[in-house]
Amino acid sequence: MTKNKRIAVITPGGDAPGMNAAIRAVVRASLDEKIETLGVRRGYAGLLENDIIALGARSVSGIIHRGGTILKSSRCPEIKKESAIIRAAGILKSRGVGALVVIGGDGSIRAASRISSASLGAVGAVCLPASIDNDIFGTDETIGYDTALDTAVDAVDKIRDTAVSFERIFVVEVMGREHGYLALDTALATGAEFVIVPEIKIPVTRISVEIKKEKSRGKTSVIVIFAEGAGNAHNFARELSRLSGYEVRVSSLGYIQRGGAPSGRTRILAATFAERAVKLVAAGRLNRLVALKDGAICDIPLSKSLAREKPVDRRLYRLVGSLGR
Ligand code: F6P
Repeated sequence: MTKNKRIAVITPGGDAPGMNAAIRAVVRASLDEKIETLGVRRGYAGLLENDIIALGARSVSGIIHRGGTILKSSRCPEIKKESAIIRAAGILKSRGVGALVVIGGDGSIRAASRISSASLGAVGAVCLPASIDNDIFGTDETIGYDTALDTAVDAVDKIRDTAVSFERIFVVEVMGREHGYLALDTALATGAEFVIVPEIKIPVTRISVEIKKEKSRGKTSVIVIFAEGAGNAHNFARELSRLSGYEVRVSSLGYIQRGGAPSGRTRILAATFAERAVKLVAAGRLNRLVALKDGAICDIPLSKSLAREKPVDRRLYRLVGSLGR
């Protein structure tokens, strides 16, 4: 058996809808290539404990529509240490794994790349970007993003009902870690009046002035989409209320954005990413990130993705401003 004939699939870090669809597709596409798949349970914490199981076609039956991850996940701060990376590489080598297939976000991808280096190429990495944050450089979309966006949009539409009925101002906090992609798209899709993202600083005084202007022009309700990475939504709302004189309510969408059945688009992305990932393994082309670029599936070196920050789309930011007035 050559080294890439056994892979291990892992879903570390924050879960995203579509991870199960991706696990299923990786396992089944691998069978077609005569590649054996192992599953690492509980992310990197499980890997460090050698918590690894065999996965076959039947172990991934009936999961395409389920949120979360059947492999389970964890946050594993230990994996940042060099000693843990070396240990993880050793465990994978001892299990005869030639490639670690990561379905996860940037921190998980970085760890996989380090494991590959520590193994001196004995264990390569192939990564499928999966995160509700959509913050991975090199791909236009991550597995789970479309679903999380739909969840956030649905929630904001509901909040709008109360905002309109009570003529209220709402600050709606959405996830996204240090980035504002989910916030920006949610704002655009819900017709929010304002969006606050970490990448673009805007003083609360300016929002207050703008709101007063809009109110005097006849706008009764206002929704401000607030990315969690932009600061404390409650402090922002308090300050906005003090400056504007209006009552301001905060609604934090929280973990509902991470869960639920994946959308059709998310499932298709999971399947097509997985197919490309397995083809890369079969061809021995490792240490690559599968990505979506301008509607096409492609792959780029992990090092290229990890070296850059994905920029926020300023054109969309301006569009929220102009359409929300
Ligand atoms: O990366 C996904 C995400 O949900 C972020 O949007 C959020 O900042 C973070 O994970 C929350 O992490 P935890 O699950 O550790 O609370």
